[in-house]
Amino acid sequence: LDKLFVPCDFTGKKILITAGPTREAIDPVRYISNHSSGKMGYAIAEAAEKRGAEVTLVSGPVALLPPLGVETVRVESARDMADAVLGAMDTADIIIKVAAVADYRPADSRDKKIKKKDQTGEDLSINITENPDILRAVGKKKQHRFVAGFAAETNDLVENATLKMDRKNLDMIVANKVGVEGSGFEADTNKVTFLFRDGTRRDVPLMDKSAVAHALLDEIGIRL
Ligand code: CTP
Ligand code: CA
Repeated sequence: LDKLFVPCDFTGKKILITAGPTREAIDPVRYISNHSSGKMGYAIAEAAEKRGAEVTLVSGPVALLPPLGVETVRVESARDMADAVLGAMDTADIIIKVAAVADYRPADSRDKKIKKKDQTGEDLSINITENPDILRAVGKKKQHRFVAGFAAETNDLVENATLKMDRKNLDMIVANKVGVEGSGFEADTNKVTFLFRDGTRRDVPLMDKSAVAHALLDEIGIRL
């Protein structure tokens, strides 16, 4: 029924969206991750599908059901996500990277469970190494594609997000305030600012993630 009340302005468009956190294995039972719930990325996938797009959602581990009508690819680590995204981007018209990719992973993930000091006699230390920047790789080979990123920031929101947009060669970045009540990780609402390559800026009031998703698609729609 919803379909009757939303525009079908993305009919014929292929949209690739990433959502959720990634998990970087320390050993078979432990991992490094972050507080991303996947709600914002899933809301965009759902909204885009309703507006007629053909949507592929590459999702890290989240507790959400795959949106109806959306091809959902589940991944665990940043390297898995990189493979899935770089493999699917060729056929995409629009790429929206909402995922909170873990910036670091354990340099060597153990294949056996790490035991406590009373059994090993050694203090535990974990060497970490940097993950590939997926969005930066996407930006490098974007060509005609419209590429949007998210920037999770606790401070200097607009400045930091603008730097990321430039560094990663994006058309747009969503500056996302995190670490405050009602916005960012795990919340059902979000407080964002849209920033565009041409210097345009739109401050969006605190809204439901689904309303933020539609506002984001409105902005992309007029720029295609
Ligand atoms: N991103 C990515 N691959 C990474 C890290 C980030 O694709 N290894 C993407 C995210 O999906 C997001 C954007 O880059 O769309 C910005 O992520 P963010 O964590 O805010 O920025 P970073 O470049 O990782 O910088 P920092 O965490 O140091 O602020
Ligand atoms: Ca990061």
